[in-house]
Amino acid sequence: VAPGDLSALISLADYEREAAASMVPGAHAYAVGGAGDEITLRDNVAAWARLAIRPRMLVGVGERDPGIELLGLPRPHPLIVAPMAFQRMAHPDGEIGMARAAAATGSIMCLSTLATTSAEELAEAVPEAPRWFQLYVFADRGVSRELMARAVDHGYEALVVTVDLPVMGVRERDLRSGQQMAAAELVASAAAAGASGSLTPKQFATLIDPDLSWRDVERFASDSPLPVIVKGVLTAEDAVLAAEHGARALVVSNHGGRQLDTVLSGADALPPIVEAAGDRLDVLVDGGIRRGTDVLKALALGARAVMVGRPALWGLALGGAEGARLVLEILLQEFDATLALSGARSAREIDRRYICPAPWAAPAR
Ligand SMILES: Cc1cc2nc3c(=O)[nH]c(=O)nc-3n(C[C@H](O)[C@H](O)[C@H](O)COP(=O)(O)O)c2cc1C
Repeated sequence: VAPGDLSALISLADYEREAAASMVPGAHAYAVGGAGDEITLRDNVAAWARLAIRPRMLVGVGERDPGIELLGLPRPHPLIVAPMAFQRMAHPDGEIGMARAAAATGSIMCLSTLATTSAEELAEAVPEAPRWFQLYVFADRGVSRELMARAVDHGYEALVVTVDLPVMGVRERDLRSGQQMAAAELVASAAAAGASGSLTPKQFATLIDPDLSWRDVERFASDSPLPVIVKGVLTAEDAVLAAEHGARALVVSNHGGRQLDTVLSGADALPPIVEAAGDRLDVLVDGGIRRGTDVLKALALGARAVMVGRPALWGLALGGAEGARLVLEILLQEFDATLALSGARSAREIDRRYICPAPWAAPAR
């Protein structure tokens, strides 16, 4: 693909391949890598392919509504840009570019604690982007409270507390590449927590408190005017605890296969969690969403919305804000076609009847 010409890329897999060819090797390894043998990383994608769609015909799908309801509010569709650290490592547009892509497509932008743009800079640059703030809780709780207050002051609509990173997963691609963030990219939050100079992602992670508990979640839920979303739950037991400790929603997630290898995929972990959550929590899912059909399957299993991680980053890497926008557009167009071809007039009516276990083995990637 000629630089700047993204029109030849028609699927997220095309973006994946081109990003691999064009990104700086260390940054690419950080973006695409997973923990351990990357079994969960691969299964995140494969698990969606183990489900088959049961389409209905002659429903009259001339008018389709991809809209959903999330945290009690209507949203135009179920896509959310997952929180991802260090986006300027992928492209100089960084988080601001990603937020422009989110705003242009009606997606929610979830800003990482380890962003290379501060919460206030992002809010000022792209005030029209609907935005959530992802919180990693540092051992120094003053820093976390400060981050939370800034998110509240700058129009972030929810606090996403990530609970699956008490320590960093063992990511061998990063160990081999030794990728470092330049001092200039040092995020405000990490600087506030006492980091200086250049650091590897692993060194950043040592700032995070491994003793975070449900009691802390409860405190954030009661102290914060924003709804708290717990990200990184994989069991029904923890879904029940999230509801009991004041969370409004949770994200079924294995952190894109980057934390503990050989845990369940989002798709496989989702059903018992949806059941345990009942109507107490909105349940979201992420991991391996690469096709519009994956989005429909997630909704069919009971998710309200999906987070999309790496594909948005490949788009950003290849074309800045415009590249990330195109990736989200492709996914939205595929989702719209999936609704029509499945005989669903609206995303809200998708339920378990639209899917069944697939009789085929998921193809190896
Ligand atoms: C490069 C990269 C950085 C990430 N950084 C964060 C982060 O700072 N906070 C967080 O909660 N999750 C982080 N995640 C996990 C994503 O939010 C999300 O759970 C995951 O990427 C979804 O899987 P997918 O990439 O297959 O879509 C990161 C993922 C990637 C790929």
